[in-house]
Amino acid sequence: MAPHSDIAAAAQALREGRLVAFPTETVYGLGADATDDAAVARVYAAKGRPSFNPLIAHVPDRESAFALGRFTPEAKALAEAFWPGPLSLVVPRAPSCPVSLLASAGLDSIAIRVPSHPMALELLSAAGRPIVAPSANPSGKISPTTADHVRRHLKDKVAIVLDGGRCKVGLESSVVSVLGDGPKLLRQGGVPRAEIERVLGHPIAVESHSARPHAPGQLLSHYAPHAEIRLNADAPREGEAYLGFGPLHAHGAWTLSAKGDLVEAAANLFRLLHEIDATGVARIAVAPVPHHGLGEAINDRLLRAAAPRESA
Ligand code: TXA
Ligand code: MG
Repeated sequence: MAPHSDIAAAAQALREGRLVAFPTETVYGLGADATDDAAVARVYAAKGRPSFNPLIAHVPDRESAFALGRFTPEAKALAEAFWPGPLSLVVPRAPSCPVSLLASAGLDSIAIRVPSHPMALELLSAAGRPIVAPSANPSGKISPTTADHVRRHLKDKVAIVLDGGRCKVGLESSVVSVLGDGPKLLRQGGVPRAEIERVLGHPIAVESHSARPHAPGQLLSHYAPHAEIRLNADAPREGEAYLGFGPLHAHGAWTLSAKGDLVEAAANLFRLLHEIDATGVARIAVAPVPHHGLGEAINDRLLRAAAPRESA
């Protein structure tokens, strides 16, 4: 844990419009004052992010969240069930919403999240205003799950990197929109779809990938390591590194989870992709991952990592 004084300094930097990387339970975020247009613009610039891709506003509690947007009973039920935690809700902006329009990228909706990492909550309380925070990686690259990942790729772009250890969930938040035409799952993530449906009491529509996706971050090629990725591989071929699921066999040095646990696999996914990529190998073969629970989100990220590259 960073000492209290580090968090106070980070909150001060945020209030001055500077960028601060901080841990959440999902991945590390690249934080900026959400109410400051210039600070928000700096986030897009630091990430090299297409400007049409809106950002999530992070707040320390539900009351602060409810002040930013208009929550239907279903949106409120999801907030009560999963906040603080790995869920982002996209709702219509409240008329008085102080978040920069740039953060919404021209939409009249806003994505909001209350993270559960204690250091994130402390920082958000100390900052005293909503903080936008995309994952702290260059656009299109693998999301960071340690402070070291952030330092490696964005170091000179941020004022402070708060170190809160390894992210427990390891995958970004699930993004659900509740905009009047019923809830939609825009991004699979840290809360499995089945748990969301249990709270809603009915199945949720899943927004499929398209050229102009609803959650604009859902461009097909994303989370891309330098190495090429080959999916559903039962064994590596010549020249490939192998990322397994289940006990380590003769095949290689890496497994998402030796005991075949999807929660553990989610927590390890981005870290292991970073680690294998750092060896300089040209191709990574990945074992099949069961498609239930967090496996749906893991397979979503793997599919994107394997997709033909856009300019990123
Ligand atoms: O777990 C997370 O959500 C992490 C941590 C740092 O909180 N943040 C994160 O942010 O993953 P980012 O910017 O990498 O992804 C935000 C996603 C994108 O897919 C974006 O398109 C979508 O949320 N999004 C944001 N605002 C939206 C809106 N108003 N309507 C639809 N989608 C929105
Ligand atoms: Mg991201």
